Amino acid sequence: MGDLKGRKALVTGGAQSIGAAIAVALAAAGADVVIGDIQDDVGRATAKELAARGGRTGFVHLDVTKDKDWEAAIPEIIRQIGGLDIVVNNAGIEVTALVADIDAESMLRMFNINCVGTALGMKHAFRAMRPGGPAGNGGSVVNIASVAATIAFPAIAAYSGSKSAVDRMTRVAAVEAGKLGYGVRVNCVYPGLIANSMGVALANDIVALGLAPDVPTAVGGVVEQTPLGRLAEQPEVADAVVFLCSDAARFITGIGLPVDGGMGT
Ligand SMILES: NC(=O)c1ccc[n+]([C@@H]2O[C@H](COP(=O)([O-])OP(=O)(O)OC[C@H]3O[C@@H](n4cnc5c(N)ncnc54)[C@H](O)[C@@H]3O)[C@@H](O)[C@H]2O)c1
Repeated sequence: MGDLKGRKALVTGGAQSIGAAIAVALAAAGADVVIGDIQDDVGRATAKELAARGGRTGFVHLDVTKDKDWEAAIPEIIRQIGGLDIVVNNAGIEVTALVADIDAESMLRMFNINCVGTALGMKHAFRAMRPGGPAGNGGSVVNIASVAATIAFPAIAAYSGSKSAVDRMTRVAAVEAGKLGYGVRVNCVYPGLIANSMGVALANDIVALGLAPDVPTAVGGVVEQTPLGRLAEQPEVADAVVFLCSDAARFITGIGLPVDGGMGT
């Protein structure tokens, strides 16, 4: 995969699952990686495991919805690993509900993390990485959207809306960063369904909502809609992120890259 030797990266929501896989892949490509998460113990343990692979790693407590956390995190990340060239806005949650049952409070909580969190991540990445910023060398931002931004799947209208917002914000941010000479590329990926805790919760919810008789049928429905005939795996998402951060993607900005086995085609 791409050579990220000497690059300095932050992965939000990197304590577990996809975020942890992205942190591992960035480190394997040679980057120094800080994990930012609200789960301090889990995040620290994941950072420690990364450190065993060599390279500098670290952890910052970061609630992505809080501007103040970002303001404190950026100088701390630069102190821990000596710069910032890559920000992966991965932290996100999924709340499922039929449209007829959407609960405003749950939806706002999800939009706060998925949309406001990603927007603040881009804001602070730009301020740190653009010329004159405390890191100042430009770089790459990758936002983790979802195949849900590209298809119409039942029970996730609000989640799909939040990820469509991530997709659109990515493109606007890419235009601003390009035109304003920040030297920062901004892209997003659309992962397909993964059999981790979030993916399994969705399958269970689909059954609970009466949209499938059991979990194997719910999962089978997704697989059937996927030309490559299986669910996605975390390292596949991580590899796409490494590519987008690498010089191999140096003329790529403002895109959404599907990592979904063709489900959104
Ligand atoms: N699991 C899937 O099938 C799937 C598919 C497509 C996209 N995604 C997206 O991938 C991303 C990661 O999902 P995952 O499956 O690894 O989920 P996960 O729930 O396993 O991990 C999410 C991580 O984000 C952290 N987090 C939650 N709120 C936070 C906040 N306010 N500030 C900082 N960190 C916070 C959690 O502590 C956790 O470590 C999400 O954006 C999700 O929407 C997941």
